[in-house]
Amino acid sequence: MRTVMPTDGFRDSMLTGLTRRPRAVPCKYLYDAEGSALFERITELEEYYPTRTEIGLLSDRGADIARVVGAGARVVEFGAGSMRKTRLLLAALDSPAAYVPVDVAREPLLLAARRMATAYPAMTVAPMVADFNHPLVLPPDAEGHGPVLGFFPGSTIGNMMPGDARDFLRRVARLVGPGGRLLVGVDLAKDPRLLEAAYDDSQGVTTAFIRNLLARANRELDADFDIRAFDHRAWWNAREGRVEINLIASRRQTVSVAGRLFAFRRGDAIHVEDCYKYTVDQFRWLARLGGFVPEEVWVDSGNLFSLHMLLRA
Ligand code: TRP
Repeated sequence: MRTVMPTDGFRDSMLTGLTRRPRAVPCKYLYDAEGSALFERITELEEYYPTRTEIGLLSDRGADIARVVGAGARVVEFGAGSMRKTRLLLAALDSPAAYVPVDVAREPLLLAARRMATAYPAMTVAPMVADFNHPLVLPPDAEGHGPVLGFFPGSTIGNMMPGDARDFLRRVARLVGPGGRLLVGVDLAKDPRLLEAAYDDSQGVTTAFIRNLLARANRELDADFDIRAFDHRAWWNAREGRVEINLIASRRQTVSVAGRLFAFRRGDAIHVEDCYKYTVDQFRWLARLGGFVPEEVWVDSGNLFSLHMLLRA
């Protein structure tokens, strides 16, 4: 038997994204199995400081976090990845009752969830293959009484436009319910050179990750991108407070995607991702707009990254 893998809107998003101006494809399509593996390698890069800094905060502040959250928490993680940070969080918490990882990458999610269930036999593990940009409800397995703690590490909230981030926070506020919380990792605004290096490493792993969008189209949509004919560029936009990540055509070319032709001139861009960076106060402001009360914030000694504990208003 062969499992039919749904393209989960990739085809439509690609065709619309290449037709509109500026060209833009939603960043969630970067994370198929290959993309998820490349992303794991990004998190280990010297230039990519966010992962190790956030892991440092989770290890150092585990006791503080556990004290705020209390016993028997039900943890809902948005975009679960390798669950390395989750392990630190769960180890710190007082007998967590359930863990609900939500992710679009089905196979990596189920694999990681199975491992987690083995490591925590007393805890309910209920993975959800879903896009957390859509409305969310707790799966029946995770219904219960412990306080709900949303967990959104990795500064993924910075990959949403501020208005979308506010709407996302409102949906999370509804999901966690009265007394519920969100622990969210937010990368801090800083020297643009550090930011640009984090999104354009010297080994080219980030380039491979971004180009995987085109490689995935070749694999799944019968496209014929010459992926080396698109350069990956990351630059700081000071006015918008974000790093912008684009693929730039390095020559004039015509590409076929799912039976349709797309012409590129040299220099034409496909926008792939924005990474918004916030100060602590800017993010607290956003959190309030999203229906939360900022409760605690932890920042590393180098002022690189922040971990906010938000309580539902
Ligand atoms: N949430 C991560 C971030 O904004 C996602 C990310 C890391 C990323 N490296 C990337 C996205 C490179 C696109 C390209 O830091």
